[in-house]
Amino acid sequence: MRSTNLVRGGSAVAALTLCASALVLVGNQASAAAGCSVDYQANQWDTGFTANVTVNNLGDAISDGWTLEWDFGGNQRITNHWNATITQSGQHVTAKNPDWAKGLAAGGSHSLGFQASFSGTNDKPSSFKLNGTACTGGPVETTTTTTTTTTTTTTTSEDPGNPDGHVANPYAGAAGYLNPDYVTQVNTLATSTGGALGTAMRKVAENSTAVWMDRIGAITAGRGLRGHLDEALRQQAAAGRPLVFQVVVYDLPNRDCSALASNGELEVSKNGLARYKSEYIDPIASILGDSKYRDLRIVAIIEPDSLPNLVTNTAKPKCAEAKSSGAYVQGIQYALDKLSAFSNVYNYLDIAHSAWLGWDSNIVPAVQLYTDVVRGTTNGFGSVDGFVSNTANYTPVEEPHLTDPMKTVGGQPLKSAKFYEWNPYFDEADFGAELHRRFVAAGFPSSIGMLVDTSRNGWGGANRPAGATGSTVDDYVNSGRIDRRLHRGNWCNQTGAGIGARPQASPRPNFDAYVWIKPPGESDGIATKTSGPNEEGKQHDPMCDPAFRGDQQSNGGNLTGAMPNAPHAGVWFPAQFKSLVENAYPAL
Ligand code: GLC
Repeated sequence: MRSTNLVRGGSAVAALTLCASALVLVGNQASAAAGCSVDYQANQWDTGFTANVTVNNLGDAISDGWTLEWDFGGNQRITNHWNATITQSGQHVTAKNPDWAKGLAAGGSHSLGFQASFSGTNDKPSSFKLNGTACTGGPVETTTTTTTTTTTTTTTSEDPGNPDGHVANPYAGAAGYLNPDYVTQVNTLATSTGGALGTAMRKVAENSTAVWMDRIGAITAGRGLRGHLDEALRQQAAAGRPLVFQVVVYDLPNRDCSALASNGELEVSKNGLARYKSEYIDPIASILGDSKYRDLRIVAIIEPDSLPNLVTNTAKPKCAEAKSSGAYVQGIQYALDKLSAFSNVYNYLDIAHSAWLGWDSNIVPAVQLYTDVVRGTTNGFGSVDGFVSNTANYTPVEEPHLTDPMKTVGGQPLKSAKFYEWNPYFDEADFGAELHRRFVAAGFPSSIGMLVDTSRNGWGGANRPAGATGSTVDDYVNSGRIDRRLHRGNWCNQTGAGIGARPQASPRPNFDAYVWIKPPGESDGIATKTSGPNEEGKQHDPMCDPAFRGDQQSNGGNLTGAMPNAPHAGVWFPAQFKSLVENAYPAL
């Protein structure tokens, strides 16, 4: 969170607003002026390229659909496209508006993009036509006017704003978005399950979960980002109070660089950073910046696990590449620059969890790295509202029976127990409080706030301990800990985990909210080996195999504790959902 009513960046520039002044419509016929210009930006590699095409309407408003056409000069072949429906016949390309962008205001523009293959030369197309009119950069009269119509239009760029300004804590006093697709999935399972368990399942669907933009296609596939935001507007109107819509920005090149389960579509070595910017962040920013959504509070959860991997996992080649190329840092800075331009968008950087970054040897370089990254953005400390820990992980908010890591049992501090490996942070409450202290000391405003993903860190059910006993630290810790993982490094589809605290605002000092970022019941990764990545780049990671014994670094050589028969990351996994509901704490 940032200070009350701070408008990020002051001069934030976003959506176009048209202010018509001295509008004199006289006579019986208005002229139909047409005109356009096109910006065409290509990023190419040996055999392919992506292009961003922005068409600017310099003529009268178009309300009911448009077509942009051009001819390639070589053998370019479009293989993939977004923000338009594109067809190609030989060298001729026809791009039609997507359903959600039929209109093109006078002075307005629309960006579309595509990926193509080619060999030989790849020159920019020499001409474009919008609805049949050549885009020569100026308006062309297409009918004769009988009367003069004088329209003076001034175009101003402004922040889409928010009636409350940029509030200190977006969650305070706000409703949360219920993703109708997730609600349907949960309620369908609840109906077929029936009984008390079915009733408990239904309660899950009453809680807000985040929407994951986990690939370029997610921006438009199915309901798409706009569809979700439109629905959020509807829900906000029905709620009669501000509504928080949470979106996860998760598509960096070399994503999930130290694991395989959530590898993505972009690669550093294949122009991934440029594509991330133009094909992923730009379209997201242009949607979030639509003035139509100005009254929503949009929380962006930025790139889970990415910067933490740069802190601890650069021995892995894909992480080393993500670091040496600057792709993670520059990608995140680009996202922050774009999104912090909108005062109704609230950015929270993912910061792993206590069991990952808790040791001094990790937390110190982590705070340094995050501080450098944020300082390097256009709006500096003003570009983030805080940090989110435990995204899609299982670390509890509190270990109620192990409150003091320095408490001694048998002459040894609890933190020396095998389970904690000298990490002094046993839970997210202590970790978050310490991070807040360190970030403020590093120069962040004290108004920054922490979030914790509590969707799966409840650890309730019959096996939840009621207290700690024993005369050695290991006995004491193992009898008392509610986190029943075999090792704190285990992260995939954990057996025995339960849904945690319900989403809520301001649960403790310096915490903006408990949130549900990972939708309960969506898998962390596929349990059995697959021959290769799926179409989204997801792969089998041995940490998702219940029979795999890990290695020293990842989980101390323990079994993974993963549930069997899990599908790919992000895919609905009913058996896990059932178990999460049964082990919820507080019970549902
Ligand atoms: C995972 C997946 C992603 C999914 C998300 C939420 O990290 O990789 O595709 O959307 O979890 O379930």
